Amino acid sequence: MKWFSDAEVIHFLGRTAPVTMAEEERWFRDYERRTDEQIFAIEVEGNHIGNLGLHKVDRVHRKADVGIVIGEPTLWSKGYGTEAMRVALRYAFDVLGLNKVSLDVLEYNIRAIHTYERLGFQREGLHREDVYKDGRFVNVMRMSILARELEETPSP
Ligand SMILES: CC(C)(COP(=O)(O)OP(=O)(O)OC[C@H]1O[C@@H](n2cnc3c(N)ncnc32)[C@H](O)[C@@H]1OP(=O)(O)O)[C@@H](O)C(=O)NCCC(=O)NCCS
Repeated sequence: MKWFSDAEVIHFLGRTAPVTMAEEERWFRDYERRTDEQIFAIEVEGNHIGNLGLHKVDRVHRKADVGIVIGEPTLWSKGYGTEAMRVALRYAFDVLGLNKVSLDVLEYNIRAIHTYERLGFQREGLHREDVYKDGRFVNVMRMSILARELEETPSP
């Protein structure tokens, strides 16, 4: 709730995130029943700093969407997002046997796009003016990575 009430965090997210405890509890109850979603905590030295979710896991076409948030802005750009995403992609490709993982990112979220491209994500297309954000329409970029494209180079 703290993360998703922080304007600095929400600025980079495409949708209005849940903010009340009731909404969070409802979301969690729904999540427990779903079989096409897996949400992970990102932990650093035992501290929960963010979440990463595999959504719409499709066993037929062997694909999923991914979303990530590090909830504390002071912890951005320290390599945690790249590391978490690499671990999640390895899990998606090697353990779940997926072929493709996709995501949507606001066009102005340069840090996120840079992070994804370093891992091997490709730009797939642009949803024009897809989100109304802070009084203006924003383009949303669709990106994806195939199992054979995951960049293994460790972070510096
Ligand atoms: C996007 C996010 C998950 C990335 O995780 P992170 O831990 O901050 O990212 P990392 O430190 O692993 O990598 C960030 C990269 O972007 C680069 N970067 C940071 N700010 C940048 C900027 N303004 N322009 C270009 N590159 C930038 C960093 O140099 C680093 O690249 P490098 O490893 O080649 O040096 C995290 O910043 C976050 O949760 N942001 C808020 C929510 C969000 O945007 N979620 C994603 C929605 S699609």
